[in-house]
Formats: sequence, C-alpha cells, structure tokens
Amino acid sequence: MKDHISEIRQILSADTRLLRHQVLRPNQSPEELIYPGDDSNDSVHFGLFYKGALHGIASIYKEPMENEINDHSWRLRGMATSEETRGMGFGRELMNACIEHIRSKKGKVFWCNARTTAEKFYEKFGMKRTGEVFYPEGLGEHIVMRMDL
Ligand SMILES: CC(C)(COP(=O)(O)OP(=O)(O)OC[C@H]1O[C@@H](n2cnc3c(N)ncnc32)[C@H](O)[C@@H]1OP(=O)(O)O)[C@@H](O)C(=O)NCCC(=O)NCCS
Repeated sequence: MKDHISEIRQILSADTRLLRHQVLRPNQSPEELIYPGDDSNDSVHFGLFYKGALHGIASIYKEPMENEINDHSWRLRGMATSEETRGMGFGRELMNACIEHIRSKKGKVFWCNARTTAEKFYEKFGMKRTGEVFYPEGLGEHIVMRMDL
C-alpha cells in the first residue's frame, strides 16, 4: 500500500513556474521561467499534489534530440519535487505519468538534458547517458539521457 496520499493532475504551464524557480533555477524569477514549447498543443505539464499543495512538476514536449528529425521523440524538462517531500516516491510517480502519456501517444524515444546529480534517478527508469558532459550557464554539470519506449 502507498504510504502517502498524492495525486497527479495535468496543470497549466504557468503553474509550474514557482517550483521551477524554487527548485531548479532560483537565480531566475518565476516570470522568466517560460520554456520554449510550454504552451504547444502536444506539451503536457504534470503536477503532483500532496495535502492539497503542489509538490512536484514534470513537463514533456514532443521534440527530437539534437541533430535528429522525427515525430516520435519526447523531451522531459522541469522535473522537480519540493525539498520537503524528497524521497517520498513523488519523482517516480511523475516519471511514470510522463512515460505512460508518451506511450499512449505512440512515442518511441524519451530523453532529457539531465543534471549529473540526478543521473542515478533517471537510470531507475531505464534512461542511459549519451554523449559528452556539458555545462549550461549557471546550471552545473549536465548530460543527455535517453531511453527507447
Ligand atoms: C531528482 C528528483 C526529481 C527526484 O525526486 P524524488 O521525489 O526525490 O524521487 P523519488 O522519491 O520518487 O525517488 C525514486 C528513486 O530514485 C532515487 N533517487 C531520487 N533522487 C536521486 C538522486 N538524485 N540520485 C540517486 N537516486 C535518487 C530514490 O532513492 C528512489 O530510489 P528507490 O526507488 O530505489 O527507493 C528530486 O530529487 C529533485 O527535484 N531534485 C532537484 C532538482 C533536480 O535535480 N531535478 C532534475 C533535473 S535534471
């Protein structure tokens, strides 16, 4: 039985921005944290609610990897859970919601630019590192991770 009562719902892109700011990009204001494609028709933003409040976010975009052209790849961005709920399984629930949605849309590839600090988390879902380490400005060491669905 699940220890914590939580619920995942689709949310508006605007509702992701406070957690994006608090957890991922504290140097940027919530208003600046609009990612390209946030409001595209295919894009989906999942919110994890716990005790009535938003404690986790994950966004997926129909987008091929660099140097690829295809209609079957999905990118993950803005994956974050609130500091006070870390380790409660909410990140896993959000990943599972993303994967389920992509499968339902017949997506074949799931990928992200990952912080190396989160590599082991993504590996739990079958994602694997590809290519060289890179350093987006102010965001620390990153790698591309991907998996086939
Ligand atoms: C990465 C993050 C989303 C994980 O969320 P979470 O709610 O703590 O994850 P869960 O509790 O669902 O953990 C699922 C599993 O992954 C493991 N895990 C979680 N974060 C991990 C990490 N950074 N490194 C290694 N393992 C990790 C957990 O131990 C758990 O393992 P288990 O199932 O074997 O017990 C969260 O730590 C976070 O928001 N970090 C800061 C922002 C960030 O780095 N986001 C990713 C950007 S690329």
